[in-house]
Amino acid sequence: MPMIDPTSGALVSPEVAASAFVAGRAASGLVDAMLSRRSVRAFKSDPVPREVIADMLALASRAPSGTNIQPWRVHVLTGAPLESLKQAMLASAARAPEAKPPYNYYPVKWFEPFLSRRRALGWDLYGLLGIGKADRARMAEQHARNFLFFDAPVGLVFTIARDLELGSWLDYGMFMQNVMLAARAWGLDTCPQAAIVYPHEAVRRELELPDDESLVCGMALGYARADAPENTLVTPREPVSGFAAFRGFGPT
Ligand SMILES: Cc1cc2nc3c(=O)[nH]c(=O)nc-3n(C[C@H](O)[C@H](O)[C@H](O)COP(=O)(O)O)c2cc1C
Repeated sequence: MPMIDPTSGALVSPEVAASAFVAGRAASGLVDAMLSRRSVRAFKSDPVPREVIADMLALASRAPSGTNIQPWRVHVLTGAPLESLKQAMLASAARAPEAKPPYNYYPVKWFEPFLSRRRALGWDLYGLLGIGKADRARMAEQHARNFLFFDAPVGLVFTIARDLELGSWLDYGMFMQNVMLAARAWGLDTCPQAAIVYPHEAVRRELELPDDESLVCGMALGYARADAPENTLVTPREPVSGFAAFRGFGPT
């Protein structure tokens, strides 16, 4: 377990995190999977076999959930249905760029320290892509790549029974993280995508979602392109001392 500095409590260095990620290599253990998971935003067109996705989802469904209700429901799209969803989302987002999402993933009014972290991610990503701070058009173009699932051969759409409560959304996050870690075991990469809930009406129509089913999130799944600058992004993390309070352990 070499990645936590015991003195500073600092998380794995960006160098270690970067070296853990080798596009196309399968993670052989849990630490390896956790370190090599990252949000990938450019995929090869290579298909992912249905059996692999089914095995991955079976593994991910070992996630815990309160009283084991297993609130997840996954729509797995490739080929023509995926293409149709992509086109519907693109058209919907172009028609109504300010569309209200069905739930607030983000705060209505941003505040610190979250605003700065969010901004840093944006600038780091745009920096790698050569998108300048005033280049609104290219930013919008990059954002719209969400609706193409970043060219991934598989798009996952996660939904939940509308009447389930906040606790089930907590369970859902654990399941989604498991999906992303399981993907690494097959050398696959992912990008979770809340962006697809904005054109939610198009998604609902394409998937023929019943009224009692809510849209949670999307996820791109496939093999990372090693040559894409955006896939070299390694996001920083706060040191453990910045977010954990230890009590009863004695002085450090
Ligand atoms: C639930 C969820 C939704 C996200 N939605 C998007 C999204 O719509 N588009 C995107 O490019 N990244 C999205 N991300 C990825 C985050 O930007 C990313 O996890 C964060 O910057 C940390 O980077 P890492 O995943 O590479 O460690 C999402 C992440 C989560 C957990």
